[in-house]
Order: sequence, then structure tokens, then C-alpha cells
Amino acid sequence: MKSTAIVLAAGKGKRMNSSIHKQYLLLAGRPVICYSLETFQKCPFIDEIILVAGEGEEEYCRHEIAEKYGFDKVSRILPGGRERYDSVYAGLKAASGCDFVYIHDGARPFVDDKMLCRAREAVEKYQACVVGMPVKDTIKVMDQEGFAAATPERKSLFMVQTPQVFAYDVIRRAYDEVMSGENIQVTDDAMMVEKAMNIKVKLVEGSYENIKITTPEDLRIAECFCAK
Ligand code: CTP
Ligand code: MG
Repeated sequence: MKSTAIVLAAGKGKRMNSSIHKQYLLLAGRPVICYSLETFQKCPFIDEIILVAGEGEEEYCRHEIAEKYGFDKVSRILPGGRERYDSVYAGLKAASGCDFVYIHDGARPFVDDKMLCRAREAVEKYQACVVGMPVKDTIKVMDQEGFAAATPERKSLFMVQTPQVFAYDVIRRAYDEVMSGENIQVTDDAMMVEKAMNIKVKLVEGSYENIKITTPEDLRIAECFCAK
């Protein structure tokens, strides 16, 4: 059984407001993207890593990331697209022939071995799973005028992280179907499967440290996690 990780690094990090794209900013001395690449590199059941980089950043990723840090499981570095789902789709096409894909945001440095094991177990059983955690805050649904419209029961709410892990054929068919349509309004990979396939996506425990570096304060929080 072949397992491929698709690590996404083709975003422009607009909310980070930094001239260097956030996945390449230094976190405790190493580029953010190195942390998740290292976890996949060391994971015994991940066979290869496909790194999806920004257009024109492929050579930088090859020399300054993959070669410099010795990530020899990185078998392909290819350009992503305009939206996250375009980048995932490019990675999926390159991953053809594998059995399972682990789709991961390069901006999430703290994916760990334990959650990869939990995800592996779940995907083998259910074909589709995403890691995440129960929400800690009360969440309101907001109406168009900015008033609270509803308060979903907190224990039914789960915030989704990555990796999102699928049997290859399931996620590939879901992407093929959704991407051939118009008006693609999808914010994560699980939604592709929810929309296109008759398969339920299992929710798996991630961790509260598995944050996505999105705005500048996230990098400060990540520095704290590195210092402990
Ligand atoms: N991503 C990607 N291709 C895109 C957009 C996003 O590969 N066209 C990747 C990012 O590099 C990141 C992950 O998807 O690792 C999650 O996306 P997000 O946090 O939204 O990153 P950005 O799109 O870079 O940030 P922003 O939305 O603030 O511009
Ligand atoms: Mg984005």
C-alpha cells in the first residue's frame, strides 16, 4: 500500500502581511514548511512527498528546502494554482498510482506522528478522514446585518485541521467531479468528498497545537510551542 503526502505551499499568505511568504518565514531558526516536511519524512508509512510550491518557487524549494534539509522523500516539486483547491488538484494528478493521500497545509508546522497514526487507522477503515478538535468557544451564526442568528450546540462543532486523508480513488473522483463544474465553493478537501461522493468523512483527533500560521500573532504562538 503506497501512501503519499501532498504538502501545500503555493499560497501567498496575504493575511500574514509579510514580504516573504509565510511558509518560508523562520520559526525557531527554520522555515515553517520544514516542520511538517520533517514529520512526513520521518513517518515510516509515508512513502513519498509531493510538494506544491508557488509558481516560480520550485527551484527555491528544491535547493533551499528539500536538498538543504535532506528531505529525500520529496519526489516531486510542482507549481500550484490560484486557489487552494487548484493546488491540491495539481498534487493529486501527480500522485496518481498511490493508495492513500495525506493532504496537508505547509503552513501547519505541528502535525505529529500520533495524529498521522490515528488518521491512517481511520482512512483504512472509512476511506476518508480529517483531523481536528472540538471547538472551545461558543460559535454564533451571523446574519447579513451582523446579528446573532443561531447558536449551534457546541459539542456538535468540530474545527477542522489538516492532514485530510483519503483513499486516492475517492478524493480523485471527488475532485474530478467538483472541478469540472462551475462556481466551486469549497474550503477544504473533506467538502469535496461530502459534495461529490456517497462517503462519510470520519473526524479524527488532531491537537490544539496543530495551528495554521495565518496572521502574525500565530507565528508568536508557534514560537512558544517550539520553546517548550
Ligand atoms: N495554498 C496553496 N495554494 C493556494 C492557496 C493556498 O497551496 N492557491 C496553501 C497555503 O500555502 C497554505 C494552505 O494552502 O499552506 C492553507 O491556506 P491559507 O492558510 O489560506 O494560506 P494562504 O492562502 O497562503 O494565506 P492567505 O489566505 O492569507 O492569503
Ligand atoms: Mg488562503
